[in-house]
Amino acid sequence: MSLRSLIDNPDEVLASWPREPRRYRRDPASFEHLLTLADVDQLIDSGCVATRNVSLLKDSKILERYTYADGDMPRRGALREHLDSGGTISLRALETLVPSIAQLYRDLQNETGYGVHVNAYLTPAGAQGLKYHYDPYVTLILQLAGSKAWPVHDPFVTNPVREYGSYHTNGFTDEQLQFLANTPPKATYTLKPGDVFWLPRGYVHSPYTVGDEPSLHLTVAFKERTYHWLAQQLAEEVLAQALVDPSMREEVQPVAVTADPSDAIQQMRVYLIGALIKLDAEEAATRVMEAARRPV
Ligand SMILES: [Fe+2]
Repeated sequence: MSLRSLIDNPDEVLASWPREPRRYRRDPASFEHLLTLADVDQLIDSGCVATRNVSLLKDSKILERYTYADGDMPRRGALREHLDSGGTISLRALETLVPSIAQLYRDLQNETGYGVHVNAYLTPAGAQGLKYHYDPYVTLILQLAGSKAWPVHDPFVTNPVREYGSYHTNGFTDEQLQFLANTPPKATYTLKPGDVFWLPRGYVHSPYTVGDEPSLHLTVAFKERTYHWLAQQLAEEVLAQALVDPSMREEVQPVAVTADPSDAIQQMRVYLIGALIKLDAEEAATRVMEAARRPV
């Protein structure tokens, strides 16, 4: 199942990644082959979901004490108990558990060249897993069963990535918390089965179930390849090619690395600028395209 079948105007999206939330509507039956409530019930009660594939969430916290109670596998019955007590279950890296999702994962990764992960969230009626937060990548929400509301605020951070500007590292400032406590969301999207919701990175959200049914959705995360990533690929290529040059394998004198590296640094600065300018454009393009499609 490709991105083409999940969203409208896929060519436009692949050429110009949307930076505003969007909702697409699909036939709910077209998601049935991916994951159903019955599939999730079976996974939860079968005792064959490893701890690396599950997170238990409640009141915006991750409850590891349940998941790690029995080594590699959750304690028998812990997942069902958690759900019965109003907790949310997140099944992680579903591409390693469910064949149809493994196919979806491969298709999306190949199509976008972005890193992909696919998680499912099952939240009981009247409950909420995570409160206000934001993610460092776009998420595509596929609503499979029940209904969930997504109140959304504009990003506080431009282009967050995991290593910089990430909510999970930085949290909110007091000012941001004040804003969230006193400002109605810019928009609230209430998803029904078959809805696909595009939530760009950085948008602050706080989803909760609506109605009497549990909510089940898939979250497909696309970890965007950034200009920083591209620069890293070029630098790695330059350094890989540099190894064939004996003068680059020469030792830097101990005194230079411990007391005065300035001459050696200047020498390498000139070398790197020259090497980047001389880098073969076609080889660099091949390297980048291969790296983009390598699973992360
Ligand atoms: Fe999120």
